[in-house]
This record gives sequence, C-alpha cells and structure tokens, in this order.
Amino acid sequence: MEKRKLGTIEVTEIGMGCMAFSHGYGQIPPEQYSIEAIQNAYRHGCTFFDTAEVYSPNLSGIGHNERIVGKALKDVRKDIVLATKLFTDSSDARRHGSVYKALRHHLEGSMERLQTDYVDVYYLHRMNSSIRVEEIAGAMGQLIDEGLIRGWGLSQVDADIIARAHRVTPLSAVQNIYSMVERDAEQEVIPFCLKNNIGLVAFSPVASGLLSGKITTKTQFEKNDDVRNWVPQLSRKNIEGNQPIIDLIGRYAEQKQATSAQIALAWMLKKYPNVVPIPGSKNKERIIENLNAADVILSDEEFNALDTALKSLKVYGHRGFAGR
Ligand SMILES: NC(=O)c1ccc[n+]([C@@H]2O[C@H](COP(=O)([O-])OP(=O)(O)OC[C@H]3O[C@@H](n4cnc5c(N)ncnc54)[C@H](OP(=O)(O)O)[C@@H]3O)[C@@H](O)[C@H]2O)c1
Repeated sequence: MEKRKLGTIEVTEIGMGCMAFSHGYGQIPPEQYSIEAIQNAYRHGCTFFDTAEVYSPNLSGIGHNERIVGKALKDVRKDIVLATKLFTDSSDARRHGSVYKALRHHLEGSMERLQTDYVDVYYLHRMNSSIRVEEIAGAMGQLIDEGLIRGWGLSQVDADIIARAHRVTPLSAVQNIYSMVERDAEQEVIPFCLKNNIGLVAFSPVASGLLSGKITTKTQFEKNDDVRNWVPQLSRKNIEGNQPIIDLIGRYAEQKQATSAQIALAWMLKKYPNVVPIPGSKNKERIIENLNAADVILSDEEFNALDTALKSLKVYGHRGFAGR
C-alpha cells in the first residue's frame, strides 16, 4: 500500500479503525477474533491503527480496545504507527496538578495497555470548553520533547481551533468525520491542513456502513451499544433520501469491479493527498476489502464525473455529532 504523511509521520494510505472490537456497532467479537483480525490487517500491509482510551463496551470503562490492540501488535510495534486519544477537562487538570500532568497520566495508562513506551499520534478526543487549546498544544509539545509521543492531533475541530493549536505545537493530524455524505471538512479544514502539512484522518469514511450499499430501510441495527440507532443519516427516511447517492456509488462499483465501500474510500484518496481514511469493521473479510480499496484507482475523468454527480445530489441527515 502507498504511504501518506501525517506531518512527518508516514502511514499507510488506509488505516484501520479498531473501535468496533470494543464499542459502537453492537455485539463485540470474542477477543481472539479481534486480535486475529488486527494481525490479518497488518499482514495485509496495513501499518496504521487507531484506538482510544474510552473504547470499551458501552463506554463504561477505560482501555478495553487499547488492550486488544496492544496484544495484537506488540510483536510488530516498531513497524507500525499507533494512534490513540484522550479526554480531559479543567477538573482533570486540577486533580493532577496541571494540564501536562493530566495528559501524561492518561498517556501512561494508554502506553501500558498498548504495551509500548511511546505513542505515534496522540489526539485530544474532543475539545472541552474549560481548557484552551493552546494549553493542550503546549502540553503535547512537552510530551513530544520527552519522546513519549511522536506527534499529536485534535478530533472534530474547526479550522480556527486547528490554527490556534498549530501555532503553539505543529499538529500531525486532525481526525474529523469525512465521507461522501459528510463533506463539511472540505470547506476550511482540509484546505488549512493541506497548506500546513497536517494529515486529515477521516473517521466514519463509509458513513457507518451506509456507503457500502448494504444498509436498507429494512436493516435492523443491534439493540445494545450500536450508534447506528441514533445516527440521523441512518433513519429510515434519510436512508431513503440518500438512495440516489448509494445508487451512484453502486454504478461506479460495477464499472470498476469494486465494492461500493471501496469506491467511497477510493474517492477520498483521489480527492486529497493528505486524507487518510480509517474505516472500521469487526469483520475480518470486510477489513481486507476496505484495505484493498487502495488498489481501486479512479482516473481523473472517472473521479471528476463521480464528484460532480455527487455534488448535484442532496445529502439527507448528518452523521450526528455534537454541535450539529
Ligand atoms: N475521533 C472520533 O471521534 C471517532 C468517532 C468514530 C470513530 N472513530 C474512529 O474511526 C474508525 C472508523 O469509524 P466507523 O467505524 O464509524 O467507520 P465506518 O467504516 O464508516 O463504519 C463502520 C460500520 O460500517 C460497516 N462497514 C465498514 N466497512 C464495510 C464494508 N466494506 N461493507 C459493509 N459494511 C461495512 C461496519 O460493519 P461491520 O463491522 O459489520 O463490517 C460498521 O457497521 C473507528 O474504528 C474509530 O477508530 C473516531
């Protein structure tokens, strides 16, 4: 697989989102299955893995996902790029004595669970209004100086926050939601990142499965810990409204002898050189299918026609994050 840069950190152009082995998409697989799925992805050429301290069943604990990722990848640690995320706020900082000490406390927990002594990309999972982004950036800079992290990032942020943070400690990556049906990042965030050598790590790039074409108005999502029950884009009405987009992708899939999910990923790889999608799946075969999207190359002509057609179609419903 080709490589891309997040700041100075080189990653495979498609990474692997590991969240669903612990949270977010219904029943989690047995641990051994998840470990094998991650190792399969590595053997298939993927060397960029995404997790977070909060990815645990029902978000009710800390570290379930990091432990799985750590077990799966400890033997190949030097060959991979590991990204994880933390939450913090002013009371957390007060409890630990400073923002830096709070970050370091979270990082040490993550490193222990990941069985490593450094993290490649350390993200603030969400901005919290009680801490200024400059303080986070300063503390991240200290962690970089100490060799505990190689680079840092922010998640679900706008261009203003990115610019303020970047002035203090240059960012490696911004992890925002981005897909064919969630294109807000194209307005300001991606252009700013492109100009400033920041990678845009695209989460939910298959729009929680919608762009695979496998979800219909009849699909029953799981009852427990399944975000698809509240993702507005996946309401019956919006699935119906978005059908012309699904059909468009399906036509390209047929033409390119690819799957719809692969077209959705190939589209963003073609569109921007600094975008790195991290599709998530708890299914071994679909993980490989998504990685193989790197082999689906859209010509300039195909891409332009697809992108133009996409722009002419109304998107029904957002993916549904805070602030929307
Ligand atoms: N920074 C943040 O706030 C944030 C938020 C959300 C996620 N993330 C990260 O981003 C990663 C990806 O997000 P996501 O899981 O929402 O992405 P996604 O790939 O858009 O959605 C995952 C869903 O799509 C389905 N799917 C994926 N590939 C498919 C394919 N080829 N065919 C059919 N269905 C397919 C999966 O089903 P199956 O499991 O059945 O294959 C799963 O239900 C996460 O693992 C996590 O690391 C970050």
